[in-house]
Amino acid sequence: MVDLICVIEHALAYDSASNSFLADKSAKIFVAGHRGLVGSAIVRKLEALGFTNLILRTHADLDLTRQSDVESFFAAERPRFVILAAAKVGGIHANNTYPADFIAVNLQIQTNVIDSSYRHGVKKLLFLGSSCIYPKFAPQPIPEHALLTGTLEPTNEWYAVAKIAGIKMCQAYQIQHSWDAISGMPTNLYGPNDNFHPENSHVLPALMRRFHEAKVRGDKEVVVWGSGSPLREFLHVDDLAGACVFLLEKYSGLEHVNVGSGKEVTIKELAELVKEVVGFEGELVWDRTKPDGTPRKLMDSSKLAGLGWTPKISLKEGLVDTYKWYLEYVKQ
Ligand SMILES: NC(=O)c1ccc[n+]([C@@H]2O[C@H](COP(=O)([O-])OP(=O)(O)OC[C@H]3O[C@@H](n4cnc5c(N)ncnc54)[C@H](OP(=O)(O)O)[C@@H]3O)[C@@H](O)[C@H]2O)c1
Repeated sequence: MVDLICVIEHALAYDSASNSFLADKSAKIFVAGHRGLVGSAIVRKLEALGFTNLILRTHADLDLTRQSDVESFFAAERPRFVILAAAKVGGIHANNTYPADFIAVNLQIQTNVIDSSYRHGVKKLLFLGSSCIYPKFAPQPIPEHALLTGTLEPTNEWYAVAKIAGIKMCQAYQIQHSWDAISGMPTNLYGPNDNFHPENSHVLPALMRRFHEAKVRGDKEVVVWGSGSPLREFLHVDDLAGACVFLLEKYSGLEHVNVGSGKEVTIKELAELVKEVVGFEGELVWDRTKPDGTPRKLMDSSKLAGLGWTPKISLKEGLVDTYKWYLEYVKQ
Protein backbone atom coordinates (compact mmCIF):
# COMPACT_ATOMS: atom_id res chain seq x y z
CA MET A 1 0.00 0.00 0.00
CA VAL A 2 2.86 2.40 0.89
CA ASP A 3 4.42 1.79 -2.58
CA LEU A 4 1.10 2.44 -4.26
CA ILE A 5 0.74 5.67 -2.26
CA CYS A 6 4.23 6.79 -3.36
CA VAL A 7 3.55 6.10 -7.05
CA ILE A 8 0.20 7.90 -7.01
CA GLU A 9 1.57 10.81 -4.95
CA HIS A 10 4.35 11.29 -7.48
CA ALA A 11 1.98 11.19 -10.44
CA LEU A 12 -0.46 13.60 -8.84
CA ALA A 13 2.28 15.97 -7.71
CA TYR A 14 3.55 16.10 -11.31
CA ASP A 15 0.06 16.65 -12.70
CA SER A 16 -0.74 19.42 -10.22
CA ALA A 17 2.30 21.48 -11.20
CA SER A 18 0.27 23.12 -13.97
CA ASN A 19 -2.78 23.70 -11.75
CA SER A 20 -1.77 26.47 -9.37
CA PHE A 21 -4.39 27.39 -6.76
CA LEU A 22 -2.88 30.83 -6.24
CA ALA A 23 -2.60 31.75 -9.93
CA ASP A 24 -6.24 32.68 -10.56
CA LYS A 25 -7.65 35.02 -7.90
CA SER A 26 -11.03 35.04 -9.65
CA ALA A 27 -11.49 31.26 -9.38
CA LYS A 28 -14.74 30.26 -7.67
CA ILE A 29 -14.00 28.82 -4.24
CA PHE A 30 -16.66 27.27 -2.01
CA VAL A 31 -15.67 27.52 1.66
CA ALA A 32 -18.11 25.21 3.47
CA GLY A 33 -18.58 26.25 7.12
CA HIS A 34 -17.42 29.84 6.55
CA ARG A 35 -18.87 31.16 9.82
CA GLY A 36 -17.01 28.66 12.00
CA LEU A 37 -13.60 29.05 13.65
CA VAL A 38 -11.76 27.42 10.75
CA GLY A 39 -13.95 28.52 7.83
CA SER A 40 -13.91 32.18 8.88
CA ALA A 41 -10.10 32.16 9.14
CA ILE A 42 -9.86 30.62 5.67
CA VAL A 43 -12.15 33.33 4.27
CA ARG A 44 -9.99 36.05 5.94
CA LYS A 45 -6.86 34.50 4.44
CA LEU A 46 -8.30 34.13 0.94
CA GLU A 47 -9.63 37.70 0.97
CA ALA A 48 -6.26 38.98 2.18
CA LEU A 49 -4.62 37.14 -0.71
CA GLY A 50 -6.95 38.91 -3.16
CA PHE A 51 -9.40 36.12 -4.01
CA THR A 52 -12.59 37.74 -5.28
CA ASN A 53 -15.01 34.93 -6.00
CA LEU A 54 -15.76 33.13 -2.73
CA ILE A 55 -19.01 31.18 -2.63
CA LEU A 56 -20.42 31.18 0.91
CA ARG A 57 -23.61 29.66 2.27
CA THR A 58 -24.78 29.66 5.87
CA HIS A 59 -26.18 26.48 7.40
CA ALA A 60 -29.64 28.05 7.10
CA ASP A 61 -29.10 28.78 3.37
CA LEU A 62 -27.78 25.32 2.56
CA ASP A 63 -27.97 22.34 4.89
CA LEU A 64 -25.08 20.19 3.71
CA THR A 65 -26.71 17.02 5.10
CA ARG A 66 -29.42 17.31 2.42
CA GLN A 67 -28.10 15.53 -0.61
CA SER A 68 -30.45 16.94 -3.23
CA ASP A 69 -29.88 20.52 -2.04
CA VAL A 70 -26.12 20.01 -2.16
CA GLU A 71 -26.43 18.54 -5.68
CA SER A 72 -28.47 21.50 -6.89
CA PHE A 73 -26.04 23.95 -5.30
CA PHE A 74 -23.03 22.37 -7.05
CA ALA A 75 -24.87 22.08 -10.37
CA ALA A 76 -25.77 25.78 -10.23
CA GLU A 77 -22.52 27.21 -8.83
CA ARG A 78 -19.87 24.83 -10.23
CA PRO A 79 -17.02 26.01 -7.96
CA ARG A 80 -13.45 25.34 -9.04
CA PHE A 81 -12.09 24.70 -5.54
CA VAL A 82 -13.77 23.45 -2.36
CA ILE A 83 -12.54 23.76 1.22
CA LEU A 84 -14.60 21.56 3.52
CA ALA A 85 -14.59 23.17 7.00
CA ALA A 86 -18.25 22.45 7.79
CA ALA A 87 -18.76 19.79 10.42
CA LYS A 88 -20.69 19.00 13.55
CA VAL A 89 -18.06 19.54 16.24
CA GLY A 90 -18.19 19.37 20.03
CA GLY A 91 -16.52 18.22 23.20
CA ILE A 92 -16.70 14.97 25.17
CA HIS A 93 -20.10 15.75 26.68
CA ALA A 94 -21.72 16.48 23.30
CA ASN A 95 -20.10 13.40 21.70
CA ASN A 96 -21.35 11.18 24.51
CA THR A 97 -24.85 12.63 24.44
CA TYR A 98 -25.37 12.74 20.67
CA PRO A 99 -23.26 9.92 19.15
CA ALA A 100 -25.78 9.32 16.36
CA ASP A 101 -25.67 12.99 15.33
CA PHE A 102 -21.88 13.08 15.40
CA ILE A 103 -21.46 10.09 13.11
CA ALA A 104 -24.48 10.64 10.84
CA VAL A 105 -24.25 14.41 10.30
CA ASN A 106 -20.52 14.35 9.61
CA LEU A 107 -20.77 11.38 7.23
CA GLN A 108 -23.65 13.07 5.42
CA ILE A 109 -21.92 16.47 5.09
CA GLN A 110 -18.65 15.07 3.82
CA THR A 111 -20.17 12.41 1.55
CA ASN A 112 -22.49 14.95 -0.07
CA VAL A 113 -19.81 17.61 -0.51
CA ILE A 114 -17.00 15.31 -1.67
CA ASP A 115 -19.15 13.36 -4.13
CA SER A 116 -20.94 16.42 -5.56
CA SER A 117 -17.61 18.23 -5.89
CA TYR A 118 -16.21 15.38 -7.94
CA ARG A 119 -19.29 15.03 -10.12
CA HIS A 120 -19.63 18.75 -10.81
CA GLY A 121 -16.08 19.33 -12.02
CA VAL A 122 -14.37 20.77 -8.93
CA LYS A 123 -10.65 20.93 -9.69
CA LYS A 124 -9.41 20.34 -6.15
CA LEU A 125 -10.94 19.74 -2.72
CA LEU A 126 -9.41 20.09 0.74
CA PHE A 127 -11.07 18.06 3.50
CA LEU A 128 -10.37 18.94 7.14
CA GLY A 129 -10.34 16.44 9.96
CA SER A 130 -8.70 16.52 13.35
CA SER A 131 -6.15 14.78 15.56
CA CYS A 132 -8.90 12.64 17.16
CA ILE A 133 -8.63 10.31 14.13
CA TYR A 134 -5.54 8.75 15.72
CA PRO A 135 -5.52 5.81 18.13
CA LYS A 136 -5.71 6.59 21.84
CA PHE A 137 -2.24 5.13 22.41
CA ALA A 138 -0.56 6.36 19.23
CA PRO A 139 3.19 7.14 19.48
CA GLN A 140 4.00 10.74 20.39
CA PRO A 141 4.46 12.90 18.40
CA ILE A 142 1.77 11.26 16.24
CA PRO A 143 2.84 10.62 12.64
CA GLU A 144 0.35 10.35 9.77
CA HIS A 145 0.99 6.61 9.42
CA ALA A 146 -0.39 5.98 12.94
CA LEU A 147 -3.87 6.15 11.39
CA LEU A 148 -5.84 2.90 11.90
CA THR A 149 -3.12 1.23 13.94
CA GLY A 150 -5.07 0.97 17.19
CA THR A 151 -8.23 1.56 19.18
CA LEU A 152 -9.71 5.06 19.16
CA GLU A 153 -10.43 7.20 22.22
CA PRO A 154 -13.95 5.96 23.05
CA THR A 155 -15.31 9.39 24.04
CA ASN A 156 -15.15 10.72 20.48
CA GLU A 157 -15.01 7.62 18.32
CA TRP A 158 -18.24 8.50 16.47
CA TYR A 159 -16.76 11.75 15.27
CA ALA A 160 -13.37 10.14 14.60
CA VAL A 161 -14.84 7.32 12.52
CA ALA A 162 -16.67 9.86 10.34
CA LYS A 163 -13.46 11.86 9.87
CA ILE A 164 -11.47 8.73 9.02
CA ALA A 165 -14.14 7.89 6.42
CA GLY A 166 -13.64 11.39 4.95
CA ILE A 167 -9.88 10.82 4.56
CA LYS A 168 -10.52 7.42 2.99
CA MET A 169 -13.14 8.86 0.67
CA CYS A 170 -10.66 11.46 -0.62
CA GLN A 171 -8.07 8.70 -1.13
CA ALA A 172 -10.57 6.44 -2.90
CA TYR A 173 -11.63 9.22 -5.31
CA GLN A 174 -7.96 9.99 -5.99
CA ILE A 175 -7.24 6.34 -6.78
CA GLN A 176 -10.35 5.57 -8.81
CA HIS A 177 -10.88 8.91 -10.55
CA SER A 178 -7.42 10.56 -10.40
CA TRP A 179 -9.23 13.44 -8.74
CA ASP A 180 -7.33 15.96 -6.62
CA ALA A 181 -8.91 15.54 -3.17
CA ILE A 182 -6.57 16.04 -0.21
CA SER A 183 -6.95 16.00 3.59
CA GLY A 184 -5.42 18.13 6.35
CA MET A 185 -5.52 17.15 10.03
CA PRO A 186 -5.14 20.19 12.30
CA THR A 187 -4.08 20.03 15.94
CA ASN A 188 -5.99 22.00 18.67
CA LEU A 189 -6.92 25.34 17.18
CA TYR A 190 -7.81 28.68 18.73
CA GLY A 191 -8.43 32.24 17.58
CA PRO A 192 -11.22 34.64 16.55
CA ASN A 193 -14.67 33.01 16.29
CA ASP A 194 -13.72 30.25 18.74
CA ASN A 195 -16.45 28.83 20.95
CA PHE A 196 -16.38 30.50 24.39
CA HIS A 197 -19.44 28.68 25.73
CA PRO A 198 -19.18 28.23 29.56
CA GLU A 199 -19.83 24.45 29.46
CA ASN A 200 -18.74 23.07 26.12
CA SER A 201 -15.71 25.04 24.98
CA HIS A 202 -12.14 23.75 24.60
CA VAL A 203 -9.53 24.37 27.30
CA LEU A 204 -8.00 27.56 25.85
CA PRO A 205 -11.18 29.62 25.30
CA ALA A 206 -12.59 28.22 28.57
CA LEU A 207 -9.55 29.53 30.48
CA MET A 208 -9.74 32.89 28.72
CA ARG A 209 -13.38 33.33 29.60
CA ARG A 210 -12.86 32.33 33.24
CA PHE A 211 -9.92 34.66 33.78
CA HIS A 212 -11.76 37.48 32.05
CA GLU A 213 -14.92 37.04 34.13
CA ALA A 214 -12.85 36.71 37.33
CA LYS A 215 -11.01 39.95 36.47
CA VAL A 216 -14.29 41.79 35.82
CA ARG A 217 -15.78 40.55 39.12
CA GLY A 218 -12.57 41.29 41.02
CA ASP A 219 -12.22 37.66 42.22
CA LYS A 220 -9.20 36.70 44.35
CA GLU A 221 -8.64 33.31 42.65
CA VAL A 222 -9.53 31.09 39.71
CA VAL A 223 -9.69 27.33 40.26
CA VAL A 224 -8.63 25.13 37.33
CA TRP A 225 -9.21 21.35 37.15
CA GLY A 226 -6.31 18.89 37.37
CA SER A 227 -2.61 19.28 38.08
CA GLY A 228 -1.75 21.39 35.04
CA SER A 229 0.86 18.84 33.95
CA PRO A 230 -0.65 17.46 30.68
CA LEU A 231 1.15 18.61 27.54
CA ARG A 232 -0.83 20.02 24.65
CA GLU A 233 -0.19 21.61 21.28
CA PHE A 234 -2.02 24.69 19.97
CA LEU A 235 -2.11 26.37 16.59
CA HIS A 236 -3.61 29.77 15.83
CA VAL A 237 -6.36 29.36 13.27
CA ASP A 238 -4.81 32.01 10.99
CA ASP A 239 -1.74 29.78 10.77
CA LEU A 240 -4.01 26.86 9.89
CA ALA A 241 -5.60 28.98 7.14
CA GLY A 242 -2.12 29.68 5.77
CA ALA A 243 -1.37 25.95 5.84
CA CYS A 244 -4.61 25.20 3.95
CA VAL A 245 -3.65 27.61 1.17
CA PHE A 246 -0.16 26.09 1.12
CA LEU A 247 -1.56 22.56 0.77
CA LEU A 248 -3.98 23.63 -1.97
CA GLU A 249 -1.07 25.14 -3.87
CA LYS A 250 1.64 22.58 -3.24
CA TYR A 251 0.22 19.22 -2.22
CA SER A 252 -1.67 16.58 -4.14
CA GLY A 253 -0.63 13.47 -2.24
CA LEU A 254 -2.79 10.56 -1.23
CA GLU A 255 -1.91 10.63 2.45
CA HIS A 256 -3.50 13.17 4.81
CA VAL A 257 -1.17 15.82 6.28
CA ASN A 258 -0.86 16.79 9.95
CA VAL A 259 -1.00 20.53 10.63
CA GLY A 260 0.43 21.48 14.01
CA SER A 261 2.68 24.06 15.64
CA GLY A 262 5.12 21.40 16.82
CA LYS A 263 5.31 23.26 20.15
CA GLU A 264 4.05 21.73 23.38
CA VAL A 265 3.02 23.58 26.51
CA THR A 266 1.78 22.24 29.81
CA ILE A 267 -1.74 23.25 30.75
CA LYS A 268 -0.11 25.12 33.65
CA GLU A 269 2.07 27.15 31.27
CA LEU A 270 -0.95 27.81 29.08
CA ALA A 271 -3.08 28.94 32.04
CA GLU A 272 -0.33 31.28 33.26
CA LEU A 273 0.04 32.80 29.81
CA VAL A 274 -3.72 33.30 29.43
CA LYS A 275 -3.84 34.84 32.93
CA GLU A 276 -1.09 37.28 31.94
CA VAL A 277 -2.69 38.20 28.59
CA VAL A 278 -6.10 38.76 30.21
CA GLY A 279 -4.51 40.72 33.06
CA PHE A 280 -6.08 38.76 35.93
CA GLU A 281 -4.09 39.58 39.05
CA GLY A 282 -5.56 37.03 41.46
CA GLU A 283 -4.29 33.55 42.18
CA LEU A 284 -4.41 30.46 40.00
CA VAL A 285 -5.39 27.39 42.07
CA TRP A 286 -5.16 23.78 40.80
CA ASP A 287 -7.88 21.35 41.87
CA ARG A 288 -5.86 18.12 41.85
CA THR A 289 -8.87 16.00 42.83
CA LYS A 290 -10.14 16.45 39.26
CA PRO A 291 -8.89 14.31 36.32
CA ASP A 292 -6.03 15.41 34.08
CA GLY A 293 -6.89 13.63 30.81
CA THR A 294 -4.30 12.27 28.37
CA PRO A 295 -0.79 13.19 29.58
CA ARG A 296 0.52 14.19 26.15
CA LYS A 297 -0.93 14.88 22.72
CA LEU A 298 1.34 16.19 20.00
CA MET A 299 1.10 15.75 16.26
CA ASP A 300 4.17 15.06 14.17
CA SER A 301 4.02 17.81 11.55
CA SER A 302 7.40 17.07 9.98
CA LYS A 303 5.77 16.04 6.70
CA LEU A 304 4.27 19.53 6.31
CA ALA A 305 7.54 21.15 7.41
CA GLY A 306 9.35 19.01 4.83
CA LEU A 307 7.00 20.34 2.15
CA GLY A 308 8.05 23.87 3.15
CA TRP A 309 5.42 25.25 5.57
CA THR A 310 5.92 26.29 9.18
CA PRO A 311 3.64 28.35 11.48
CA LYS A 312 4.32 32.04 12.12
CA ILE A 313 2.20 33.03 15.13
CA SER A 314 3.63 32.42 18.63
CA LEU A 315 1.24 31.29 21.37
CA LYS A 316 1.64 34.63 23.17
CA GLU A 317 0.86 36.67 20.02
CA GLY A 318 -2.06 34.37 19.22
CA LEU A 319 -3.52 34.76 22.70
CA VAL A 320 -3.25 38.56 22.56
CA ASP A 321 -5.06 38.53 19.20
CA THR A 322 -7.74 36.14 20.47
CA TYR A 323 -8.34 38.17 23.64
CA LYS A 324 -8.77 41.32 21.54
CA TRP A 325 -11.43 39.50 19.53
CA TYR A 326 -13.07 38.14 22.70
CA LEU A 327 -13.37 41.64 24.20
CA GLU A 328 -15.24 42.81 21.09
CA TYR A 329 -17.38 39.66 21.17
CA VAL A 330 -18.45 40.14 24.83
CA LYS A 331 -19.32 43.78 24.11
CA GLN A 332 -21.93 42.67 21.54
N1 LIG B 1 -11.64 23.78 16.53
C1 LIG B 1 -10.58 23.01 16.59
O1 LIG B 1 -9.79 23.04 17.54
C2 LIG B 1 -10.30 22.04 15.46
C3 LIG B 1 -9.16 21.27 15.57
C4 LIG B 1 -8.88 20.39 14.58
C5 LIG B 1 -9.72 20.27 13.50
N2 LIG B 1 -10.82 21.02 13.40
C6 LIG B 1 -11.69 20.75 12.23
O2 LIG B 1 -12.03 21.90 11.49
C7 LIG B 1 -13.33 21.78 10.97
C8 LIG B 1 -14.16 22.99 11.36
O3 LIG B 1 -14.16 23.10 12.76
P1 LIG B 1 -14.50 24.45 13.52
O4 LIG B 1 -13.79 24.41 14.80
O5 LIG B 1 -14.34 25.61 12.59
O6 LIG B 1 -16.06 24.20 13.81
P2 LIG B 1 -17.21 25.30 14.02
O7 LIG B 1 -16.64 26.57 14.52
O8 LIG B 1 -18.29 24.63 14.78
O9 LIG B 1 -17.72 25.53 12.53
C9 LIG B 1 -18.37 24.52 11.80
C10 LIG B 1 -19.19 25.18 10.72
O10 LIG B 1 -19.91 24.16 10.00
C11 LIG B 1 -21.26 24.59 9.83
N3 LIG B 1 -22.15 23.46 9.71
C12 LIG B 1 -22.38 22.48 10.63
N4 LIG B 1 -23.32 21.63 10.19
C13 LIG B 1 -23.71 22.09 8.97
C14 LIG B 1 -24.67 21.66 8.01
N5 LIG B 1 -25.42 20.56 8.22
N6 LIG B 1 -24.81 22.37 6.87
C15 LIG B 1 -24.09 23.49 6.66
N7 LIG B 1 -23.15 23.95 7.52
C16 LIG B 1 -22.98 23.25 8.67
C17 LIG B 1 -21.55 25.39 11.09
O11 LIG B 1 -22.65 26.23 10.89
P3 LIG B 1 -23.69 26.41 12.12
O12 LIG B 1 -22.86 26.87 13.29
O13 LIG B 1 -24.64 27.44 11.61
O14 LIG B 1 -24.30 25.05 12.34
C18 LIG B 1 -20.23 26.15 11.28
O15 LIG B 1 -20.20 27.32 10.51
C19 LIG B 1 -13.91 20.46 11.51
O16 LIG B 1 -13.80 19.47 10.53
C20 LIG B 1 -13.02 20.14 12.66
O17 LIG B 1 -12.84 18.76 12.84
C21 LIG B 1 -11.15 21.90 14.36
